[in-house]
Amino acid sequence: MRVFIAGATGALGRQLVPQLVARGHEVVGMTRSASKQDLVRSLGARPVVADALDPDAVAQAVAAAEPEVIVHQLTALSGKMSMRDARHPERSSAVIMTNRLRTEATDHLLAAGRAVEARRFVAQSFGAFRFARTGGPVQTEADPLDPDAPGPRQPGLEAILYLEQAVTTIEWGEGLALRYGGFYGPGTSTSLAPDAVMAAPIRKRRFPIVGDGGGVFSHIHIEDAAAATAVAVERGRPGVYNVVDDDPAPVREWLPVLASALDARPPRRVPRWLARLLAGEAATAMMTEAKGASNEKAKRELGWQPRYASWRQGFAQGLG
Ligand SMILES: NC(=O)c1ccc[n+]([C@@H]2O[C@H](COP(=O)([O-])OP(=O)(O)OC[C@H]3O[C@@H](n4cnc5c(N)ncnc54)[C@H](OP(=O)(O)O)[C@@H]3O)[C@@H](O)[C@H]2O)c1
Repeated sequence: MRVFIAGATGALGRQLVPQLVARGHEVVGMTRSASKQDLVRSLGARPVVADALDPDAVAQAVAAAEPEVIVHQLTALSGKMSMRDARHPERSSAVIMTNRLRTEATDHLLAAGRAVEARRFVAQSFGAFRFARTGGPVQTEADPLDPDAPGPRQPGLEAILYLEQAVTTIEWGEGLALRYGGFYGPGTSTSLAPDAVMAAPIRKRRFPIVGDGGGVFSHIHIEDAAAATAVAVERGRPGVYNVVDDDPAPVREWLPVLASALDARPPRRVPRWLARLLAGEAATAMMTEAKGASNEKAKRELGWQPRYASWRQGFAQGLG
């Protein structure tokens, strides 16, 4: 099939393009920068330069490619997040831009897909920290989202919800939204690269276990996230899918293992009140009350299995 990827040069896109090419698809990869066209070519795709926030540019790029499937992997989350960003995500420029990419750019890509009669649309969503903080530690796609998430996180959650609803309700084709777990592995913020954004505070012991460390996180190796996406390009019914590993786990379990894999000393522990003071309510709730996600639906309906079934194996062998 001909597949159009918006975000071909990102952490996920760089893994996805070669996997799609290996499965026999013809891939057109979008980037904002003329200078990244060689990167797109080296991955095996034909580059197209367009700004996702420019509806005419997107319409032209998609019309020229005439894809059967469009994949939306646009975010602006690869930069460094400061303590101020954690406290006030609603004021962070990365979050504000990502919210625009999840709303405006989604609309532009959907309009362009409809115009060329594409038959499938697969988009990046994000599952963690969105579930209602009641109920069991592991949630499915059918479980309710948090009705009263801390205020600073509202705009981000609304943008993700907008994307999921817009994509999964298209009538001109099949729309799938993939709720990835926290990425780790080559090219992501959690890797062995010296500039990996999440790894740096862990090495400096500035990423503590808060309270009892009971917030449950779901992780996913970036290659496994790309593999699930490649399958979703080809099959699967419209809807939302959790793309996470088999092992949702509380912060107190996974953070020391990650620190050790990064050759860092064990994380510090801080009480909730201090975390609230330093990082705010939203970050504290994430570290103590988050729920993990179940991958049963993706396994059952997409026939996908993560190669790194658990972060325990993945942090040891797959940080890249
Ligand atoms: N995805 C998440 O939910 C999430 C959450 C927390 C942390 N992270 C971390 O953040 C990093 C981000 O991974 P990612 O793959 O989601 O993002 P990324 O690596 O920053 O990739 C973003 C992609 O979006 C494209 N893009 C952004 N704005 C665009 C625009 N206006 N027009 C056209 N293209 C645009 C970029 O293309 P060009 O630059 O080539 O134009 C790039 O291909 C990873 O390290 C991950 O670990 C991700």
